[in-house]
Amino acid sequence: MSNRIFLSPPHMNGTETAFVLDAFASNWIAPLGPFVDRFEQELGGYLNRHVCALCSGTSALHLGLLTLGVGPGDRVYCSDFTFSASCNIIRYCGAEPVFIDSEADSWQMDPALLEQKLSEDEKLGKLPKAVIVVDLYGISADYARILPILDKYHIPLLEDSAEALGSKRDGKLCGTFGKVSGFSFNGNKIITTSGGGALISDDEAIVKRARYLATQAREPKPFYHHVTIGYNYRLSNLLAAVGCGQMQTLEQRIEARREIFDEYVRQLSDIDGIGFMPEPKGAVSNKWLTVITIDPKKIRKSPEDIRLALEAENIESRWAWKPMHMQPVYENAECVGGSVCENIFNKALCLPSGSSLQPNDQDHVCECLRKALTK
Ligand SMILES: Cc1ncc(COP(=O)(O)O)c(C=O)c1O
Repeated sequence: MSNRIFLSPPHMNGTETAFVLDAFASNWIAPLGPFVDRFEQELGGYLNRHVCALCSGTSALHLGLLTLGVGPGDRVYCSDFTFSASCNIIRYCGAEPVFIDSEADSWQMDPALLEQKLSEDEKLGKLPKAVIVVDLYGISADYARILPILDKYHIPLLEDSAEALGSKRDGKLCGTFGKVSGFSFNGNKIITTSGGGALISDDEAIVKRARYLATQAREPKPFYHHVTIGYNYRLSNLLAAVGCGQMQTLEQRIEARREIFDEYVRQLSDIDGIGFMPEPKGAVSNKWLTVITIDPKKIRKSPEDIRLALEAENIESRWAWKPMHMQPVYENAECVGGSVCENIFNKALCLPSGSSLQPNDQDHVCECLRKALTK
């Protein structure tokens, strides 16, 4: 396995080890501690938002919905083209998801479909309690169009920025568009805490509420006293130490992934039938993963053919996220459209994109890809 080229492996810069040893030396082996505070401050400073560090992106999004008051019987709209964690949280709350398809030229939630569905549901008296918009593959959704629509109907936005730390739209960082937002620091993300996440808001009361819910909803009393159901969702001090180290090289990691994307474009774009994920006008993506598309009319190979060919060379690649309306677990959920993201899913493949990918390894990936696509 030592010479395997991975999709998006963790990339340490060296300072993480010193910080973890420091946490050990001080015996802060606990969920909470000075590195959690520091990680929250550093991330909060970067985003100019209040932050609650948590054990996963999923827990951040779950608490996001709870702080927006979502409960049993509510409806919540969500991007159809995403990873299941974005919408499983709707079911955790006992609410019902409604999926909204993507725009073909951004791959993100289609604002026109969103508006159409809100207008229909308003007439039926069943507006959603919240809308979850995902910044998939680090590509920001079109908030200049989405936010005025949500404002018109007074629906709060939960922004799923799990994959989009450092991405921007019109100069504004992803994660700062939502009333509440969530990031993931899972091992494959642009920076990692091994496992971890964060809830973000400019409303301090929301972040305070999330922190309370994440620490078992413990009341400020000398004994254990509970008036609501809580969760054990906080990030451990050890993992926050890794996060503090990772924060030091965030900008370099974004730069590296953007260069990797550009190199793929340089080396592969002459192949007839190959496309690349979009970067809509005004969006600057962190290029968390480089995703290519394979036009079936020009290249008689499926994403699976290519994945297997790369696998034979010990190179990891991955199908794009399978849309939620295609998932058996959501077969009864409502969906508006669906053909756009289904079409992307059927022809897309995620390529090795980790910021530690060496130029000679990327050359090798490109050679193997060219062989697989053109033979
Ligand atoms: C779009 C999206 N949302 C949510 C999550 C959940 O994050 P986590 O794995 O940290 O729970 C992920 C990633 O894993 C993701 O890619």
